[in-house]
Amino acid sequence: MSQVESRTDAGVRGWQIEAGEARRAPFEAGPLVRVVVGPAAGEPVGVLEVTLPAGGAMPEHDHGDSSVLLVPLAGCFRLVEAGQDGAALELRPGSLATIPVGRRVRLENAGETEARTLAVLTPPDFAEQLDAWPAAGAPGPDPQAETLAAALEREHREIDQAIEAFLEGVSEGRTETGPLTRAMEALRRHIYLEEQFLFPPLRDAGFMAPVLVMLREHGELWQTMTAIERELVEDATLSGAPAQCKLLLAQLERHNSKEEPILYPHADDVLGAPASAELRAFMRSGQMPDGWVCTSA
Ligand SMILES: [Fe+2]
Ligand SMILES: [Fe+2]
Repeated sequence: MSQVESRTDAGVRGWQIEAGEARRAPFEAGPLVRVVVGPAAGEPVGVLEVTLPAGGAMPEHDHGDSSVLLVPLAGCFRLVEAGQDGAALELRPGSLATIPVGRRVRLENAGETEARTLAVLTPPDFAEQLDAWPAAGAPGPDPQAETLAAALEREHREIDQAIEAFLEGVSEGRTETGPLTRAMEALRRHIYLEEQFLFPPLRDAGFMAPVLVMLREHGELWQTMTAIERELVEDATLSGAPAQCKLLLAQLERHNSKEEPILYPHADDVLGAPASAELRAFMRSGQMPDGWVCTSA
């Protein structure tokens, strides 16, 4: 905890930004985030310090039940709101941005140097999601050393973990659906990448039968995701979503436990270095085309 001074009546409290616990985004060129005032502090606001390297970005996301005030401290940011035809705010020290609950945004470093901003959250709930990010000192993915197969396997783990985090939250009485929605977006994009770019060359290289099994199972995953999305829309108490999420986890376990040993070991060879590098780049920032559905959906 970054608190430096407290009066016994828990009134005014002082905080040191640098004392906040630092966490690193589990993807390349993402932000380093210090949790300055976290949800455990018992304050009605949360405060994060977000540092983006030059060329870095926080991909499109929402903030769950929190509304956000961005207070830039250094450098230059571009804040892009989803669905507004690329309309963007440029943010520098001296300017601010407010982001209402439910709005999806992407935050980019628009300058040549590191950019830092405070993100003030009310209520502080969104900061809980940082718990799933690795501590800043932990070794991160090395984009040069990581093969496409390793990157795809890592994405499998990240999707599993986000679904598990949602289930844990529900069991503790929380109704935050943001991590689950993001996990399903990531899974749809993962399936898109496999079906559009990876499976065709694998099929041509002789892996026809396993590819057909994977395509069929993608259809089942897709169907379960559609059912979960329906639950989230129709039932705010989330009574049915956990059972569907457990089904999705079981389907993923069955699918990934074949895909990883049978197909992924051939992915980098079959595609060749340039195409595999291109796909790894897609995994960092690419978008699935609107309205795309998988072959067996
Ligand atoms: Fe797959
Ligand atoms: Fe996969």
